Amino acid sequence: MLVSAKEMLIKAHKGGYGVAQININNLEWTKTVLQTVNDLKSPVILGVSEGAAKYMGGYKTVVALVKALDEFYNVTVPVAIHLDHGTYKGSFEALEAGFTSIMFDGSHYDFEENLAKTKEVVAACHLKGVSVEAEVGSIGGEEDGVIGMGEFADPEECRIISETGIDFLAAGIGNIHGSYPAKWPGLNFEVLKNVQDVTDGKPLVLHGGTGIPAEQVKKAISLGVSKINVNTDLQLVFAAATRKYIEEGKDLVGKGFDPRKLLAPGCDAIKKVVTDKVEMFGSKNKA
Ligand code: G3H
Ligand code: ZN
Repeated sequence: MLVSAKEMLIKAHKGGYGVAQININNLEWTKTVLQTVNDLKSPVILGVSEGAAKYMGGYKTVVALVKALDEFYNVTVPVAIHLDHGTYKGSFEALEAGFTSIMFDGSHYDFEENLAKTKEVVAACHLKGVSVEAEVGSIGGEEDGVIGMGEFADPEECRIISETGIDFLAAGIGNIHGSYPAKWPGLNFEVLKNVQDVTDGKPLVLHGGTGIPAEQVKKAISLGVSKINVNTDLQLVFAAATRKYIEEGKDLVGKGFDPRKLLAPGCDAIKKVVTDKVEMFGSKNKA
């Protein structure tokens, strides 16, 4: 059932659990995630970056694929197709193509421009019942081999951008995309509390879900995070399982060279990660 992410996140926020955003990039990942969350009776947000959408054949192809798989596997849980870290142009293109949720990531603009563009995206998306995520502060990440720590969200900026009518907000609280450095100080729960206090109980989003200890994720959920994004964890296990299959030479025996067999170990591996995340976030049986 394809829906906007708004209702599922309001329900999660009230229920004290989180909904996973699982990034997808091809058919195998999409079908594996949908089958897994359907079995777990958990809502899910399928995150699609602009790069992944391009790789998959464009926004319309992504929407058609998710719709077809949703029907083929008789998926009964709520599923949102969400543009992840969308540009201004990409947000309107994905909306036009049928995405049910849009993140306009305006965090690299100065705040005034982020605010102005966010207002435009909200107006266009809400006309179609599509949910909107915005970002304030910045999420850390690796660039040229150096892991940046990102910038903490300013609560006043969060309050202002929240008043545009966005449905959920990604606030920089020390979270990082990709792997976390050994000396990472952890999530800043003081900033998180301050952001939630001024955003009128709006569901908050935790990017960079890979590598955050479970107790920190659960504490963040208790303080207002209702959507947790995960991508790198799946990429790591998919690559490792596929490499192991090939290194064991199974692809050379019998029909091991069949791509359906070659990709199966990786799919089994991401199924386990999705299951672990759904159970950690508490969304199992919450559909
Ligand atoms: O938007 C996508 C997520 O923030 C991915 O974060 O790759 O660190 O799990 P991750
Ligand atoms: Zn992210």
